Amino acid sequence: MPLVPMRQILDEAAKGGYGVGAFNVNNMEQIQAIMAAAEELQSPVIIQASRGALKYSQLNYLRHLMLAAIELHPDIPLAMHLDHGNSPETCKKAIELGFTSVMMDGSLMPDGKQIATYEYNVKVTREVVEMAHALGVTVEGELGALGGIEDGHGAGLAADNVEHLTDPALAEEFVAETGLDALAVAIGTSHGAFKSLRKDPKTGAVLPPALAMDRIHEIHKRLPHCHMVMHGSSSVPPELVQVVNEYGGEMKATYGIPLDQIQDGIRHGVRKINVDTDSRLAMTGAVRKFLAEHPSKFDPRDYLGPARDAMKEVVKARMQAFGSAGHAKDYRPMTLEEMKRRYKTPATVG
Ligand code: G3H
Ligand code: 13P
Ligand code: ZN
Repeated sequence: MPLVPMRQILDEAAKGGYGVGAFNVNNMEQIQAIMAAAEELQSPVIIQASRGALKYSQLNYLRHLMLAAIELHPDIPLAMHLDHGNSPETCKKAIELGFTSVMMDGSLMPDGKQIATYEYNVKVTREVVEMAHALGVTVEGELGALGGIEDGHGAGLAADNVEHLTDPALAEEFVAETGLDALAVAIGTSHGAFKSLRKDPKTGAVLPPALAMDRIHEIHKRLPHCHMVMHGSSSVPPELVQVVNEYGGEMKATYGIPLDQIQDGIRHGVRKINVDTDSRLAMTGAVRKFLAEHPSKFDPRDYLGPARDAMKEVVKARMQAFGSAGHAKDYRPMTLEEMKRRYKTPATVG
């Protein structure tokens, strides 16, 4: 099976009332972990690469790794997605590389830091939609700005900065003006392991991030057919942080996004859930543990194997929680050519 347009994976998820995890990758072990989880649970899946990942993997390595994934797992619907594309040029490069979906993150300027104007966001997102849809490729856009900053990406906003949360009325306009396939919403989530700056005024202890789930409910009411995307949706399980810290790590106390909140989102139109940090934590904990327990070992396979297994377990847990497990064979995957024809008759994809 060739790579599937992400739009079909999201449309099918909407029909089935479930969400699909979009897992970030940078190397072979992470792709193997995701595909092993998808195979075992028979789940459709979205693999995504950030600009940082493309740079780290020199593009071609990642391209051939994803080709290996479809060759080895022909029955798993798999979309390859560019995460946080910073310009139409970056999106074009990813499409040329064979990605079946791109995110044009016009909520920020191309430097990935400064907040962009609404007009700029509409302009670049529409430009990418025109280019991508002509080839059957899916487009995710973002309205509002996420909190935090990760590897230089993000405006460094406090996660609960209400001013930059997605405005449901504007979302309606944005979707109509751009024609995008999936809308990333800012509801108080942020990238990375430290998602909350809220502190208990008495004890000083960190409090869980406050999420504006009502914005998701409202957008779903206004746009019942719009596929929403939750970024910054790692749950940062304490048990994973604990393994990291038990074996030499120094991570501060933190909270992630509770799975029941994500499930509430899924009941209200969230179809793509971005997870990176949980995979990073699982792998790092496993590597630290292995090396601490086997100080004389030096074969990378000895510690990357357990790291891959640990990530597979996290991915499996998310596939189960998001409800995508068991849905791999529900539909016949479309080609980009077929999707391209559907975009030409918009009534069928609206
Ligand atoms: O956008 C955030 C993702 O976790 C990717 O992070 O830019 O460090 O690859 P990255
Ligand atoms: P996390 O840092 O919560 O895993 O979010 C990842 C993400 O949103 C990638 O786009
Ligand atoms: Zn993101």
